[in-house]
Amino acid sequence: MEIVSLKTENFRLLAAQTVEFSPEVNVISGANAQGKTTLLEAAYLLTGLRSFRSRYDRELISFGGQEALVDGQVQAAGRLQRIELRLSRGRTRLIRQNGVRRSSSEVTESLKAVLFSPEDLGLVRGPASGRRKLLDSAISQLRPGYGALLADYARLYENKLRILRDWREKPSLLDPLEEFSRSLCLYSARLIRYRASFAARLAALAGPIHREFSGGGEKLEIRYETVSTVTDPTASEKAILEEILQRQEALSRAELESGQCLVGAHKDDLAITVDGADARTFASQGQARTAALSLKLAERELFLEETGEAPVLLLDDVLSELDPFRQEFVLNRIGGGQTLITCCDEATVSRLTGGRVLRMEKGRVV
Ligand SMILES: Nc1ncnc2c1ncn2[C@@H]1O[C@H](COP(=O)(O)OP(=O)(O)O)[C@@H](O)[C@H]1O
Ligand SMILES: [Mg+2]
Repeated sequence: MEIVSLKTENFRLLAAQTVEFSPEVNVISGANAQGKTTLLEAAYLLTGLRSFRSRYDRELISFGGQEALVDGQVQAAGRLQRIELRLSRGRTRLIRQNGVRRSSSEVTESLKAVLFSPEDLGLVRGPASGRRKLLDSAISQLRPGYGALLADYARLYENKLRILRDWREKPSLLDPLEEFSRSLCLYSARLIRYRASFAARLAALAGPIHREFSGGGEKLEIRYETVSTVTDPTASEKAILEEILQRQEALSRAELESGQCLVGAHKDDLAITVDGADARTFASQGQARTAALSLKLAERELFLEETGEAPVLLLDDVLSELDPFRQEFVLNRIGGGQTLITCCDEATVSRLTGGRVLRMEKGRVV
């Protein structure tokens, strides 16, 4: 996988420009707020047409601009492709893959990328939402249909939540509640099957990486956690649905009383243990960082295994946060594919020998 070139217009603070990338390491340097992360964001958009920073398209359009363009030439699925995304205020986005109009969910065999940002270093000890995001953003890229399923789930969840919050003022809202709950359980069953199989593969890859990373000492284990009544998250959709519905029945009253959705895949998590102890609460800062890096490196391996091509690696400000040993370990494991790394200090840049340096000033590569 490779981004050959990337053209942007009115994309946040980025200048109208076409940036060409090296197929190996690209070091994006520059002072704060010059557009380094934004360039990675534009690159990441070519994968699933979703930003990793903003939920709404309008935030991606330059202040005062009406329409933004991100237009990339990528080498993916064994051929040169073009992915074009036009965002405009007040109108729906327009996507073209190789000149043909597509919806987000129809874009397949496109670029795949693994993103590493400073927040990922807090993956292990942080909230469950970060661990779900790892699952969701990876599976969205690997499984066509998963992104749309996730969006449908989010919409249903919001609707149900509104009912649970407002039913006292407006009792008629309760009429469709059962239907919403049932649908949410069904969509949960679908999400759970995807997530369970992905998590199992991630666990198998992360264990050996972590053992090597920690000098052979530590044992990292990852287990997918979901609705408590689900006995086997890899069972059939029907079997899982039955088990979730049991839980739904038991908690329906409590949902009405608390005004919260208590049942469904929105509470999923990854249980992470290091030498048997729950790393979410007991890991030291160093152990947690090592485990987080092992997970992200495992994600990259999984993409490689799945597609036969190394995904593009997007490293946002991560190296400067790591001690030299961890920097070394990460850099040694990421060969054989294209990497875009952002950083502020030139010292880090010079250590990364052989990389093409792209200096950014005021949204422009100079
Ligand atoms: N929609 C937008 N239009 C114009 N500028 C924006 C927009 N969104 C963010 N910015 C600006 O982009 C800058 C941050 O860019 P960023 O890529 O995060 O910088 P860096 O990673 O180099 O520190 C901020 O100054 C912010 O105000
Ligand atoms: Mg940045």
